[in-house]
Amino acid sequence: MARSAIINVMVQAAMKAGRSLARDFGEVQNLQVSLKGPGDYVSQADRKAEEIIHAELSRARPAYSFLMEERGAVAGDDDQHRWIVDPLDGTTNYLHGIPMFAISIALERQGQIVAGVIYNPAMDELFTAERGGGAFMNDRRLRVAARSKLSDAVITTGIPHLGRGHHGHALIELKNVMGEAAGIRRFGAASLDLAYVAAGRVDGYWERWLSPWDMAAGILMVKEAGGFCSDITGGQNMIDDGTIVAANEPVHRQLLRMLEKKS
Ligand code: IPD
Ligand code: CA
Ligand code: CA
Ligand code: CA
Repeated sequence: MARSAIINVMVQAAMKAGRSLARDFGEVQNLQVSLKGPGDYVSQADRKAEEIIHAELSRARPAYSFLMEERGAVAGDDDQHRWIVDPLDGTTNYLHGIPMFAISIALERQGQIVAGVIYNPAMDELFTAERGGGAFMNDRRLRVAARSKLSDAVITTGIPHLGRGHHGHALIELKNVMGEAAGIRRFGAASLDLAYVAAGRVDGYWERWLSPWDMAAGILMVKEAGGFCSDITGGQNMIDDGTIVAANEPVHRQLLRMLEKKS
């Protein structure tokens, strides 16, 4: 499969950061770790990976702007192009030695996500998508799962960490989906949840209280694999709203119905 120039740039940045993350994986005692709030960790590994990605992408496209989890917004001369970067999605997993973490890079052009790369270095799984060009894992074309009934579906979600609050609300949603779906998983990295929906490994995913870098690349991945993505009201405000529901069309519809319930 021939990759476009822009995907190559993104893959190179993700792989270089991935090598840095892989080197430090399991060495948590040697990493500086701090808390942004209760249960919300950040480490030297997150910052190192972000620096690598920022340097690689800036070298390839010097004028583009950035939105990164750790450094925030960095304006470039070109505000029509913006990289949205999560240098380490799944920090808690990473710091616990759980190999479910990823680098997520999206490119936005005039407010529209046009390319996405998600890379899990521990499993050496590389997910790529380009608007109109399909979604791939390594060289294999991806397609969302075909199961149409929620009762046959395995659904993944995210659970708020200690400091986030909203635990009562999260429990109501969990109870409602749990009562209808075949099974529920919690992997701990939003970008991989979305990549797994795209790959048909899970049938659906929903989560609230996300940031743009958690989902920008994954949204394109799911859509390019033939899936549906919306915010929790069914609209297209995922990035601003911080909520997401992703699945094939029938499971997406049934999930939205479950998530509308208030008790
Ligand atoms: C987190 C992960 C997790 C999700 C959290 C995110 P981080 O990202 O994606 O699965 O439930 O809401 O903040 O902080 O590890 O990059
Ligand atoms: Ca974080
Ligand atoms: Ca994240
Ligand atoms: Ca992160």
